[in-house]
Amino acid sequence: MSCRSVSKEALVGSVTLGVVFVAGYLFGKNKSSRMSISKSHSGGKDNPLMQYILNHSIREHPVLKNLRLRTMEDSWNIMMVACEQSQFMVILAKLIKAKKALEIGVYTGYNTLNMALSLPDDGVVVACDISEDYTNIGKPFWKEAGVEQKIDLRIQPALKTLDDLLAADQAGTFDFVFIDADKVNYDSYYEKSLQLLRKGGIIAIDNVLWGGKVLNPAPDDADTVAIDKLNKKLHKDVRISLSMLAVGDGLTIAVKL
Ligand SMILES: C[S@@+](CC[C@H](N)C(=O)[O-])C[C@H]1O[C@@H](n2cnc3c(N)ncnc32)[C@H](O)[C@@H]1O
Ligand SMILES: *[C@@H]1O[C@H](CO)[C@@H](O)[C@H](O)[C@H]1NC(C)=O
Ligand SMILES: *[C@@H]1O[C@H](CO)[C@@H](O)[C@H](O)[C@H]1NC(C)=O
Repeated sequence: MSCRSVSKEALVGSVTLGVVFVAGYLFGKNKSSRMSISKSHSGGKDNPLMQYILNHSIREHPVLKNLRLRTMEDSWNIMMVACEQSQFMVILAKLIKAKKALEIGVYTGYNTLNMALSLPDDGVVVACDISEDYTNIGKPFWKEAGVEQKIDLRIQPALKTLDDLLAADQAGTFDFVFIDADKVNYDSYYEKSLQLLRKGGIIAIDNVLWGGKVLNPAPDDADTVAIDKLNKKLHKDVRISLSMLAVGDGLTIAVKL
């Protein structure tokens, strides 16, 4: 279980809502692979240890919690970042005293809001998405939390926004990047993000295990092939320090050398 599958009140009781959607999004129709991966990584209703972790870890700003509950009402709620993962990434950003962050794939902006809440007053999250339907769900919460002025939302293909930032001389100025949009562009997002990042900055990449499919990528499965290819490339990439973690659906941390 991850926070996105928590039903109603806070983290209480947990489970079920969303699990079916999670399966559809992350694991296609393959129930057995869903069950095995959900036990080992995201956890499931049969995983009290995951419940224990959430019970003893998650600290959400009240508006962030309300955004999560609102997001759970959306039929694509499986896309929301795992909240324990978001909390971890915010800690990393704080450790490196991040001021400028980039979110590639916003959805309702759970992680965008979490990041904006933790950045200093003059901090900014450049938030990239192609969907106003999704981001409009989040906007009122960003405002209610008093951080909307720190969120620079750009509705257009993320590759275009990254190119715009590079063209505006912003290479080397970003502290933290979260890559969480369409998988076939992952390598391009990574390369452009690395240019935008300062030395010592962090790129976090979501879904690097893709429900376990990376173990055996079907050649016609473009998403899995793209993720596996990037995973293999990063393992050899001398431009970064690297850590791949079994958090959520797999999280890679790359620190620019
Ligand atoms: C997994 S969700 C992001 C979840 C989000 N990071 C969170 O904290 O909950 C992926 C998002 O990427 C967006 N997306 C898909 N293709 C895109 C593209 N080419 N450029 C920008 N955003 C894209 C989708 O609209 C969707 O909102
Ligand atoms: C489903 O996943 C399991 C475990 O990963 C695998 O053994 C099996 O071949 C998969 N079935 C299909 C139809 O993809
Ligand atoms: C987690 O918290 C809920 C609500 O307080 C409780 O019912 C449940 O037993 C807890 N589970 C674990 C494993 O701590």
